[in-house]
Amino acid sequence: MSKGTMKENHSQWSSRMGFMLAAAGSAVGLGNIWKFPYMAGEMGGSAFVLTYLLFMFIIGLPILVLEWLIGRRGQKNPIHTMEDVAISEGRSKAWRWVGIIGVLGSFLILSFYSVIGGWATDYIVLAAQGAFEGANGEITGQLFTDFLGNVNSLLIWHTVFMFATAFIVAMGVGAGLERGCKVMMPGLGVLLLVLVGYAQYVSGSAFYDAIQFLFTPNWSAISGKAILAALGHAFFSLSLGMGIMMAYGSYLGKNVNLLSTASTVVILDVIVAMLSGIAIFPLVFANGLQPGEGPGLIFVTLPIAFGNMAGGSILGILFFIFLTFAALTSSISLLEPTVELLEEKTHMGRKTATVVSSVVIWALGIACILSFNEWAEVKLFNKNIFDLLDYLTSKIMLPITGLGTVIFGAWMMNQKLICKELNLDSFWFKVWSILTKFIIPIAVIVILVYGFA
Ligand code: PHE
Repeated sequence: MSKGTMKENHSQWSSRMGFMLAAAGSAVGLGNIWKFPYMAGEMGGSAFVLTYLLFMFIIGLPILVLEWLIGRRGQKNPIHTMEDVAISEGRSKAWRWVGIIGVLGSFLILSFYSVIGGWATDYIVLAAQGAFEGANGEITGQLFTDFLGNVNSLLIWHTVFMFATAFIVAMGVGAGLERGCKVMMPGLGVLLLVLVGYAQYVSGSAFYDAIQFLFTPNWSAISGKAILAALGHAFFSLSLGMGIMMAYGSYLGKNVNLLSTASTVVILDVIVAMLSGIAIFPLVFANGLQPGEGPGLIFVTLPIAFGNMAGGSILGILFFIFLTFAALTSSISLLEPTVELLEEKTHMGRKTATVVSSVVIWALGIACILSFNEWAEVKLFNKNIFDLLDYLTSKIMLPITGLGTVIFGAWMMNQKLICKELNLDSFWFKVWSILTKFIIPIAVIVILVYGFA
């Protein structure tokens, strides 16, 4: 949600419901529906899925709580919040770097997020044109390949998506968005359930293959790469490590229970990702598609369902509308930190700052578009531009800022106050301390080192 609007309607946002919508709106997005399934497919299924689930609860949840807690203390943008809270705890101002890397991360992520948001938007049109009717895996695969090769249309939809993001952030039309959220988010959930039902109905035994692929432990598939990917995705999926949740925390009322609110967001986020996986993989297996298809996975599988189920064209249109909406409630949260920083560090007004940041992000997005076609062979460290942006953010920057946040929260801040603020009894406070002081920092460091090795 646009922070500008939050400021104006502070009382409204301090209600638990409004805040939850904003936080869940940022968390639930392309990460759950587009990225989670294709990563699970590439990383060998359950090894990735189960570690991701574990990390969501033992690493993501505590860091989400800490980001909100620090944000509620600081009451400013992430960089100044880190600086102020550090100073008030008698620590170095250098902690602001956690905020700075975070803002940079959100800026880089948005450049490719907007491109994929554009794909989702274009698929609304394709669904409306009946492009999926009667399609099988070959047809949807071809459709997607043609789509990726068409630079102009990728560019148009990336531009449309980025424009919509910038428009919402500049205008601060948060109230309308909040209302939209209340309809579209549950709508997305219902449609995912319908898709799961459909997949179960048509895929026969492939449904059970899919469940097995996703959830039956297969530890031989586990690798440093898969674990690092799962960690990075836990951060990405909860919008952590970018100061975004910290910024939202500054709007939290004193009486909001951080632990239970954070648990709700984590559970919601996980449910959407799981539903998406359970809807997609049966179709993958039943249609002889490859789980490791890559970023196109949902775009080649779900259209098969829409093309063959009763009422599929309407459901397809609705699905991609809801997906675009979910992507927008995340992308505006990604744009906000950069806009705010520009607003504060220069003399730009909100609108100018939005235009300037959006244009730069949009331009970077073009490089990402080209990496799917004309520049596919332009590689650095053996990765094309899209992969490189994704790797740099999810697997390096987010874990590092997450690490900074948890070290700050556990070692630099007054622990008695945190214990009181979280309403923990002495047993749970011990659990919390062991997790945040030792387990999380050590795990993140080990995974980073092991993942690179
Ligand atoms: N969490 C969002 C998603 O899963 C993406 C996002 C990442 C949003 C980082 C904000 C910040 O789609």
